[in-house]
Formats: sequence, structure tokens, C-alpha cells
Amino acid sequence: MFSNWVIITKRPYFNPTMKQDSEKRSILVTSALPYANAPLHLGHILEHTQTDIWVRFQRLYGNNCIYVCADDAHGTPIMLKAEELDISPEELIDEIYQDHKATFEGYRISHDNFHTTHSEENKILSERIYNSLNEKRLIDKKIINQLYDTKKQMFLADRYVKGTCPNCGAQEQYGDNCEKCSATYNAIDLIDPVSVISGTTPIISESEHIFFKLSQLKDQITTWLDESHIQNPVRNKLNEWLEGDLKDWDISRDNPYFGFLIPGYEDKYFYVWLDAPIGYLASHLNYLSKNNDESKFEDFWEPDSQNEIFHFIGKDIMYFHALFFPMMLSNANLKSPSGVFVHGFLTLNGEKMSKSRGNFISAKNYLNTLDPDYLRYFMGSKLGTGVDDIDLNLEDFKQKVNSDLVNKYANIASRSARFINNHYKDTLSTELDTPELVEEFVEASIKISESYENLEFSKALREIMSLADKANQYIESKEPWILIKKEGNEEQVQSICTTAINLFRILTIMLSPVIPGFTQVAKDFLNEQETNWHSINDPLLSKKVNKFKPIITRIDENHINNLMGN
Ligand code: MSP
Ligand code: ZN
Repeated sequence: MFSNWVIITKRPYFNPTMKQDSEKRSILVTSALPYANAPLHLGHILEHTQTDIWVRFQRLYGNNCIYVCADDAHGTPIMLKAEELDISPEELIDEIYQDHKATFEGYRISHDNFHTTHSEENKILSERIYNSLNEKRLIDKKIINQLYDTKKQMFLADRYVKGTCPNCGAQEQYGDNCEKCSATYNAIDLIDPVSVISGTTPIISESEHIFFKLSQLKDQITTWLDESHIQNPVRNKLNEWLEGDLKDWDISRDNPYFGFLIPGYEDKYFYVWLDAPIGYLASHLNYLSKNNDESKFEDFWEPDSQNEIFHFIGKDIMYFHALFFPMMLSNANLKSPSGVFVHGFLTLNGEKMSKSRGNFISAKNYLNTLDPDYLRYFMGSKLGTGVDDIDLNLEDFKQKVNSDLVNKYANIASRSARFINNHYKDTLSTELDTPELVEEFVEASIKISESYENLEFSKALREIMSLADKANQYIESKEPWILIKKEGNEEQVQSICTTAINLFRILTIMLSPVIPGFTQVAKDFLNEQETNWHSINDPLLSKKVNKFKPIITRIDENHINNLMGN
């Protein structure tokens, strides 16, 4: 069993010459699929930022890393939302799809493909997996009793019924558990149930449901949990759950429903959580077919393939990803995940995000006020392997970004570039003034790469900022602005500034997974586009740079005021 979240079982590809493709890891990465019934919020952005930093690091390092996602387009809430808007579910999910895609692009999330679960690929794959489970006799049918809304003519999921708690008598409780006494129960045991949809009293009605026989797979799940990369607190939680009563999983829903029909039925659909994670495979297949590479799909998902598959998710959906989904895959003769990585929830100024209470920033509106890299940096500086919630305190946000990115990182270039531009025709010296300092940065890059690899982004960024402090101290101690005033110092000033620019360049490469927009501006100045992590080893000498332009401006109080309540 892995004691912690350490992926370096196979060492990451660390070959500066990058000569052999076979040495590269081949990794497929996903973020959870957002529901296609509302715009994205900053919680979604936290998840995608965490995933994107890791993905960009892998690519920068030289690995083959494909990042896919999709909208989760099925289920009752989407069906009801479309009804409310008087449009078809297809129209609704198309509209939201465009909106989600544009927002993710706005945050520089580097998905290789963003698909939808309402797709041909997903239908075919869902049927295939279901049929395989069926052939393995892992599918069962049972008659169940459920609350039925006779006015709306539909069975009611737990969240659509309210009533009095059978345990403590608290009123207005939902169909699955009581917020007052935490009792869990079956919706049919609620006292005086009312349909949230029509306001009428539901009746109890029978229906045949289809189940995935998870209860038979306890040993398989235990083995999978032991062999996969999962953070310890998450593993403990899952093990606790396993020790309890492992029930079969109800994977069907009755008409009316928006989803895929189950093979052999005219009125039963796959429960949205059955086809949603299969949407990861569908998006991957769709990506491959866009590149005329469909034939690679079967090999990639072959159970013993050397590829790695990682899912990034929030703590509310870990059962689906760490128990149900891996069992669906392995029993359909497909590769189960190499790891599932769970993050906590984003809170805003110390409170749960809530639109109705005004403690909310929509993902789109943030982009009208500030560059996404500020937020990416702040989130990165808070992200580690813990599952605790992460707070976006706007005052901290402003201070952290101004102090680290403006005062530390960007400052190195703005203090040294103008000398090179103004006195040396934009040309760097042939030698470094203080090679040992550059060497120290190169050395530090090894530990920083390990922190990125192990998802310890806050640690990586702390180390990067302590290097930035050293670079600033170096410039201060050398005082090029004084040296330049005396004749005879020309060469020395050029090599001091060349050293500073090389330090800045290394920090630029190190920061590029986190702030790809700002570091692009820096790369334009350095006149260097094709860098990778290993370029850190080779200093930039005797080369022409471009005219320096300010890279990052300060966040001020007005920006912060504009963000809130939008
Ligand atoms: N559609 C499902 C996921 C299916 S994956 C096969 C879903 N959608 S969601 O839109 O509700 O959430 C998408 C992701 O965002 C989940 O991983 C969820 O944990 C995450 N977050 C939702 N609110 C969040 C915060 N406030 N903070 C951080 N992540 C949050 O669940
Ligand atoms: Zn109760």
C-alpha cells in the first residue's frame, strides 16, 4: 500500500536530451464533469486549476499528457431546468456547453478536449460497459417502492421530496437524511411527504430497477484501493465505508428522464452517475477520433497497459470515482484508474459560497475584472494534498499576489532588463557574473519538480518565491544602477544583469504551469518560446532579448470591490 500521495513509482521522465519517446510517461488526466444546468463558479475553477497546473507541469517535463473533460448533460435537474425555461434539454445543454467551454478557455485551462456526455461515443461506451457487466452476471433486477408524484407523473428522487423526519420529528426535511438529527432513512418513511415539484402528496408505487451487484465485489474494491494512488484520509474514509454494509447500486431511472435508454428497455434510463464517468472515456475517444487516432483507444484502455489515468475530483463525489467507477471498468475488462485525487471545497471570505446570500463570484464575472493568472497563482499557493477546504479571502488574495508576483517575481526583470535594453543593444553577456547562484537555482529545480509531481503546489511556490527573494537580494547587493555610472564597469554590469535575467528566466519556466499568461509575456521578452523544464539547465548567453514591457500590474482595492457580489 502506498503510504502517501507519491506518484513517483516510475520516476518521472528526467532526461534533458529527451531523445526517446519510449521514456516518456503516457498520462490521461480528467477533472470532474460539471453539470450542464448552470454557469461555472469559482469552485469549478479551483478544481480545473489544480488539474491544469499538474497537466502543464507534466507536459513541460516532457511527458505525454492528455487532459480531457466534458459537460455532464443528463439527469432530472437538467430535464426540469429545460422545462422551466421552456426549451428542450438538448437546447439547454448546447447553450451551457458553449458557456462552459468559453469560461474554461478564459482561465487558460488547457483541456485537449471538452466534450459532452450526451454524445454518440458515450452512448456506445455506456452500453458496452453495461453489456459486459451483464454478461458477467453483475447486473440484477429488483422491485423497489418509491414515492411517485401523480400530478407530475414521475418518481421522485430524494431531493424532490420533503417531509417530517421519522426519527426526530423535524419538519421540512429532504427524502434521504435529516439535517437536524442526521438520521438517514428511505424517502417512503418520511411523515407527511410533499413533492417539491408539484406540491402534491406523493403515493408509494412499485417499479423494477436495475442494480450493479457491488456487494459481490468487496475483495476487488479492497485490492483496487490498496494498489491505487489515493490520499490517506480519503482511503481511510473509503475503507470505513467498505467495512459497513456494501449495497448493490441502483443504476436505472424511470421515464421521464433525460439520458440514455438501457439496452432492452423502452422506458428505463441509465442513472446519470452511470454514464457520467464513462464520459471521461467518451471524451478521450472523441479526442482520438478528431486526430484520426481512434485505433489507439483499445490499447490505451487495455487493463494491463502502461498508461496512467488520474482523476481530479471534489470530496463530495469520491464514492463514485473510487468505488463504483473502477469496478465498472475492471469488470468490463477496461483499465481502472491509476489514482483519484480529491480536493476540498473553495469558500469565499471564510463562508460557504452562496448565490442567494450574496457570497459569490461567478467564474465569468471574475474575468471581467482581473487576469485569471492572479487567481491561478493564489489557488496554487493554497493547494497541497490535503482535503481541507480552501478559503479565498480577497484581502489575502490581493496581498499575496502583489507581494509575490509583482514585488518579487516581476521585479527581478524590471530591475535588470532596462540596462540590457538601454546600454547593450538588448544583448546578454557571454558569461555569467555569478554562475554559482544560477547553479543554486538549477539544483533547487529538482526538488521543485518533485513538489509539482506530488501535487504539493503550495510547497513548490514557496520555494520558488524564496529563490525570487535571493535574486532580488543579489541585484540589491550588486547595485548595477550605481556601477553603470562609472566608466570601465560596462562588462561587469552587463554580466550582472545577464545573471539576474537568467535567474528570472529559470523562475519563469518554474512558474509557467501556474501562470501561463504572465510567463508568456516574460518569454516574449526573453525571446524564447520553446522551453521545457530541462531548459533550466542551460543558461541564456550572448543572445538578443526584446524590449522589456511590464509583466504584471498590481491588484488594487477597486478590483476587489468590483469582484464581490458579481
Ligand atoms: N457532474 C458531477 C460530476 C461527474 S464526474 C463524472 C458533479 N458536477 S458538479 O458541477 O456539481 O461538480 C463538479 C466538480 O466541482 C466536483 O468535483 C465538485 O466536487 C467540484 N465542486 C463543486 N463545488 C465546489 C467548491 N465550492 N469548491 C471546489 N470544488 C467544488 O458533481
Ligand atoms: Zn431528524
